[in-house]
Amino acid sequence: MMTESPLRLGIAGLGTVGGSVVELLQSQKEILRQRCARPLEIRAVSARDARRSRGVSLQGMEWVEDAVALAHRDDIDVVVELIGGADGVAFDLCRSALEAGKHVVTANKAMLARHGFELAQLAEHRNRALAFEAAVAGGIPIVKALREGAAANSVESVTGILNGTCNYILTTMAKTGAPFADVLAEAQQLGYAEADPGFDIDGWDTAHKLTILASIAFGVRPAFQSISVEGIRFIRAEDVRAASELGFTIKLLGVARMDRSGISQRVYPCLVPLRSPISHVDGVHNAIEFSGDYIGQVMIQGRGAGGGPTASAVAADLVDIANGRLSTTFGQPATALAEARPMDGQASEGHYYLRFLLHEQTGAVARLAAVLSKHGVSIRTLVQKDESQSGDVPLYLTTHRCAESAMRAALAEVQASSDLAAPPMLLRIEYF
Ligand SMILES: NC(=O)c1ccc[n+]([C@@H]2O[C@H](COP(=O)([O-])OP(=O)(O)OC[C@H]3O[C@@H](n4cnc5c(N)ncnc54)[C@H](OP(=O)(O)O)[C@@H]3O)[C@@H](O)[C@H]2O)c1
Repeated sequence: MMTESPLRLGIAGLGTVGGSVVELLQSQKEILRQRCARPLEIRAVSARDARRSRGVSLQGMEWVEDAVALAHRDDIDVVVELIGGADGVAFDLCRSALEAGKHVVTANKAMLARHGFELAQLAEHRNRALAFEAAVAGGIPIVKALREGAAANSVESVTGILNGTCNYILTTMAKTGAPFADVLAEAQQLGYAEADPGFDIDGWDTAHKLTILASIAFGVRPAFQSISVEGIRFIRAEDVRAASELGFTIKLLGVARMDRSGISQRVYPCLVPLRSPISHVDGVHNAIEFSGDYIGQVMIQGRGAGGGPTASAVAADLVDIANGRLSTTFGQPATALAEARPMDGQASEGHYYLRFLLHEQTGAVARLAAVLSKHGVSIRTLVQKDESQSGDVPLYLTTHRCAESAMRAALAEVQASSDLAAPPMLLRIEYF
């Protein structure tokens, strides 16, 4: 390719992702030179601690103490924000950079989920890129696949395993039969889970990514606050075992779909059939499945985090900018993005898995079935176990499709019954 003036980068954040971006740009220099109309050149970098060794050479790059100052330098064309955090320095930097007419590349899903609309407006106003392939599912090129590849489709749904920590925990529980707390502790030792794991296991990380995907898929503003979020803390080894016996595995999914009540965006652990491709996405891997009216069903999987894959996604965005390929942030002009309404969960329908612990009393199972039936909840499969040491009877069942409101009403009535020895457990089932 013809070599023009370099595309000058200012990189803020030199941690797992930032350090890998610097390393990749150095070691893949030849490939990138061939694929870019303009060579990529790191002019300046910024992080908190100038004395910390980064494991990469920073020679020829100016160290900048205040990351936000990168936004105001005349010798920088693209600010690469790899600090993280929804607000604070990261947001100040991105906003200032776009206002100053610079392109922004970021991996920051938390910031985009909260401020994506405002930043997209700014980018468009200045005709600059706000690129974020790395923010969703690390190295998996889902943003481009959905935004560009499926541009001619009306998208019906987007579903993803978007958090490697949760997928590792659930996969390990299924393989070993170990309880949640033990597997979480092991994941922390292996570095797959943070010391404070709530952000991952309570579903917030998945929700950030789903917000971004839903914006692209359905043309709505990122609206993190309108997502319903459940995590995986309450999943027990017995649920994982029962799911397997019933022909399912449990995954934490982010699910955005068009239904009768509008666009629903939800994060929840659910059962998926063992025969579905998504059930075989194991360990720290991520996968996203979407379907459109012309493209049909598409699934891509790969490494959703880690320095290498995430740096690869950052670099892909830089190649686009160097070649003058600027996309609208969420696939259509920001002014055209509709406001995402909070969804009405009660209006949705689905299949369900239920776990009950019943006192051993004559007719208890029949009474339970009668309550479910009264509310229009029909049982599809039922497994009764003789495994409780207390003499109580565990019961696992799946239902045919029914309204969520009916399911909740049935559960409320069952919970008031003296047959129950413990609160019931409800999980959705997603068929692929
Ligand atoms: N890690 C992944 O696998 C992954 C995957 C996808 C997306 N992401 C996203 O990528 C971003 C970075 O993640 P990471 O894992 O690389 O984080 P990290 O390892 O914690 O690195 C953060 C970097 O930001 C720097 N920093 C923190 N506060 C700063 C400030 N006020 N001014 C300047 N620099 C500051 C830190 O400096 P010091 O090094 O000096 O402390 C560090 O270099 C986040 O938005 C994250 O969500 C990460």
